[in-house]
Amino acid sequence: MWSPGTWMWRAAVCCMLLETFLHTARGLNMCMGGSATSCEECLLIHRSCAWCAQEEFGRGRTLTRCDFSQNLQKRGCDARFIEYPTSSVSVLHNMPLSSKGSGWTQNDVVQIQPQKLSLSLRPGDQTWFELQVRQVEDYPVDLYYLMDLSLSMKDDLETIRNLGTKLALEMGKLTSNFRLGFGSFVDKNMSPFSYTAPKYQENPCNGYKLFPNCVPTFGFRHILSLTDKVDRFNQEVQKQMVSRNRDAPEGGFDAILQAAVCKEEIGWRKEAYHLLVFATDDVPHLALDGRLGGLVQPHDGECHLNDKNEYSASTQMDYPSLALLGEKLAENNIFLIFAVTKRLYVIYKNFTALIPGTTVEILDTDSKNVIQLIIAAYNVNIRSKVELSVWDHPEDIASSFTATCQDGKPLPGLRKCADLKIGDTVSFNVSVEARSCPPRGTEQSFTIKPVGFKDSLQVSVDYQGCDCGCSRTANTNSSICSNIGTYNCGTCHCEPGYLGARCECQEGESGSSYLTACREAEGKQVCSGRGECSCNQCLCYESEFGKIYGSYCECDDFSCARHKGILCSGRNSGGKTH
Ligand SMILES: *[C@@H]1O[C@H](CO)[C@@H](O)[C@H](O)[C@H]1NC(C)=O
Ligand SMILES: *[C@@H]1O[C@H](CO)[C@@H](O)[C@H](O)[C@H]1NC(C)=O
Ligand SMILES: *[C@@H]1O[C@H](CO)[C@@H](O)[C@H](O)[C@H]1NC(C)=O
Repeated sequence: MWSPGTWMWRAAVCCMLLETFLHTARGLNMCMGGSATSCEECLLIHRSCAWCAQEEFGRGRTLTRCDFSQNLQKRGCDARFIEYPTSSVSVLHNMPLSSKGSGWTQNDVVQIQPQKLSLSLRPGDQTWFELQVRQVEDYPVDLYYLMDLSLSMKDDLETIRNLGTKLALEMGKLTSNFRLGFGSFVDKNMSPFSYTAPKYQENPCNGYKLFPNCVPTFGFRHILSLTDKVDRFNQEVQKQMVSRNRDAPEGGFDAILQAAVCKEEIGWRKEAYHLLVFATDDVPHLALDGRLGGLVQPHDGECHLNDKNEYSASTQMDYPSLALLGEKLAENNIFLIFAVTKRLYVIYKNFTALIPGTTVEILDTDSKNVIQLIIAAYNVNIRSKVELSVWDHPEDIASSFTATCQDGKPLPGLRKCADLKIGDTVSFNVSVEARSCPPRGTEQSFTIKPVGFKDSLQVSVDYQGCDCGCSRTANTNSSICSNIGTYNCGTCHCEPGYLGARCECQEGESGSSYLTACREAEGKQVCSGRGECSCNQCLCYESEFGKIYGSYCECDDFSCARHKGILCSGRNSGGKTH
């Protein structure tokens, strides 16, 4: 009987093929299978699902309102009543990129385009936008030179006495608008970081044969605010004297943080690149080292300069963490150049991996190469690179970047370009997708900013399909719903105790609820997810693939008239079909 060619065998093969076909067909239309009972539920199933909110949709037949948009139209839903939002992008500010940074238009120099856009995101529906960044020619530069003045730097101090003039000459070839400033640091003036015995208070070099005179230890001292009068730089540097601390590491990270956040005192201009050159010949103290001296208060990230322009919280707060330092540098658009002696290169190189916008260069033991070093860092690491950073990125939005650098080849997953020439324009394709609906009323926004630039792109986000447009006209006590239900997006949501597609039935005396009467078993979907429950009966949906029937809409013409091994005997086994 089961040998090939017999009737039963052929029927079994047919059944298997049909089953496969049906699964594929159902798999394609996840909108209908999801048994969504509201527009919002429908739209959340998949980005291709749409909802028909037309009252008379189907006219007496029961049709699921959740389907592909084109199917709904085919099935007679007027396009005006189809809820089918998609994601979109609108550009709000779109000033063109500038070509030059100098001249009278300086306040309007634009290095990123567009500057502002708004996204309307339907969860699950990816969209994208493009942005362009240009390294504008002849952009103003602010450079603050932060120098370690511990004893071992005394020969360096000698070399940089005329640094201002020379540096201004070299930088003048790269920008017509250059300012220079100066500050210095040693370490916290407390044990165990410094010598604290009374005889060292005024002169920590007291009794030190090789170099018997130096100035008291200090944390950070801001000496010269950014100025275009470079002679002032030379004069101030010439007045400086080294100091002496006790342990090898220095308190330079305290100084970097102050230099970054004390904007007014340092004089950082809004419209300029901010370069911070950190020259040292030793390792820095990091957060938690302060505990050795009994400092338990973490750094607060604020500016603490007293009226002598000295860091006044030096002996009150711990050293800053790398994370805090990175945050403050980025917040103030500062490029940090570690100019360090050769043996420290690896250590500072590791810091650069942890702090965005930083680079490390090798400083000769006497600082002789400092100018070449600064020019090289500026040209190679600052002016020839564009790297995007993203701020306040909402968690429920997934975004990915594709960079197109000067050769025009898209580089998926990259948000930076290197080896650029001044004036080159690079573009980034950013694709975004909301993963879910945020709580109602949430407003989201984020910022995309090239590291070290003042320019940024502001992105605001609203959501599509989390609330359907038709829900705005929901009508309580609607006559469509026998005055005992809310009419919303084409369907009735009945008051407790009432049921039916138009709330036309009352719950039976037996107390059996709406849901149990239309479910094959507890935990199963209402009407197997293929029909609507009305007055304790399932009204099965019409399907493109054939009739659906059975008390719980569990049968259809394609499942070989078999459900759980029991034959669905004909079409009149209890369930109503319309
Ligand atoms: C630098 O980082 C690497 C890898 O993370 C590590 O193996 C190495 O020990 C670090 N070097 C220093 C000097 O901190
Ligand atoms: C941007 O990326 C999306 C996919 O992520 C792609 O569909 C679109 O065509 C890209 N746009 C451009 C201009 O390359
Ligand atoms: C709806 O009607 C019922 C009684 O018919 C009434 O108690 C209720 O306040 C009405 N609700 C609204 C929102 O009008």
